[in-house]
Amino acid sequence: MILSIESSCDDSSIAITGIKDKKLLFHKKISQELEHSVYGGVVPELAARLHAVALPKILEESRNYFDSLKAVAVTNEPGLSVTLVEGVSMAKALGISLKLPILPINHLKGHIYSLFIEKETLFPIDILLVSGGHTQILHVKNYDDIEILATTMDDSFGESFDKVAKMLGLGYPGGPLIEKYAKEGDEKAYNFTVPLSNSPKLAFSYSGLKNQVRLAIEKTKPLDNTTVSNICASFQRVATQHLIQKLKKIYKNREIMHFGVVGGASANLHLREKIENFCKEKSAKLYLADLKYCSDNAAMIGRCAIDAYSLGKFENFKNISIHPKSKMYK
Ligand code: KG4
Ligand code: ZN
Repeated sequence: MILSIESSCDDSSIAITGIKDKKLLFHKKISQELEHSVYGGVVPELAARLHAVALPKILEESRNYFDSLKAVAVTNEPGLSVTLVEGVSMAKALGISLKLPILPINHLKGHIYSLFIEKETLFPIDILLVSGGHTQILHVKNYDDIEILATTMDDSFGESFDKVAKMLGLGYPGGPLIEKYAKEGDEKAYNFTVPLSNSPKLAFSYSGLKNQVRLAIEKTKPLDNTTVSNICASFQRVATQHLIQKLKKIYKNREIMHFGVVGGASANLHLREKIENFCKEKSAKLYLADLKYCSDNAAMIGRCAIDAYSLGKFENFKNISIHPKSKMYK
């Protein structure tokens, strides 16, 4: 079995996964959304302090599995430096005390593996990764060969939901809140322009759309519930349209066999519906993670670690360091 730890942002999570049968034997996550909600976003130092309390609590519950462990896996990149350190310190302590090797895991790669929890690995696969920190289109050939086909020039998809929710005073995380309000709103009420729609650039940009929303909010104060719902619905429509437009451009002359959507924002049902249509047009088979594995969790890190284990991706204790801004898939 492998014990995996995730603490890259505001979720403290530990999982135990069977190496041979890929079974998820134990999985617990403590989210800090409530604590950060009052600030409209994640406060790194607060997150680190909460991890320091939550991780040992979860670890204690997984103690029965300690004798069966063959390795400890931990997210070491990318993420918030002060929170990554919490998980990595715990992994090192466990590694030393239980005499186990350590597998450092890239968080973004972990999200890809959220599609394969308790399943076989499926490569090659094309991936849309939409999280709070990233918006990327990837061509994944194998564990070590991941090509970035497009990425964001500024804000990420999920981040733009968080920022719009903050401007509307809705709380954090913004994604689920915007989606909830959008259900009641008219998506055509605001005619926001789709970012980079006339640009040949194969990239994403969300800061301009965020500013369009800011101006709309300033013009329509005070905000009643209907206005908030209309803004949310219109913003969600255009943010998603931007993703789909660029997907169509990128895959205009490229075949897709398997297409997966991962990351916290992949829970968005409006996005899921539009991606389903896109995959139908491209005759691609669509893979979506279970809703419970879209946001950060240790189950996806543990599943990724099974492949890392079989590939022998162990790292010497002294060499394990954190890489907060890593954009590479190591
Ligand atoms: O993958 P994740 O849990 O953390 C990162 O690795 O960043 O993603 C969190 C992000 C947040 O920005 C959150 O607002 C967004 O995912 N999100 C959503 C939805 N649920 C979560 N965005 C849009 N619609 C949702 N339903
Ligand atoms: Zn994530």
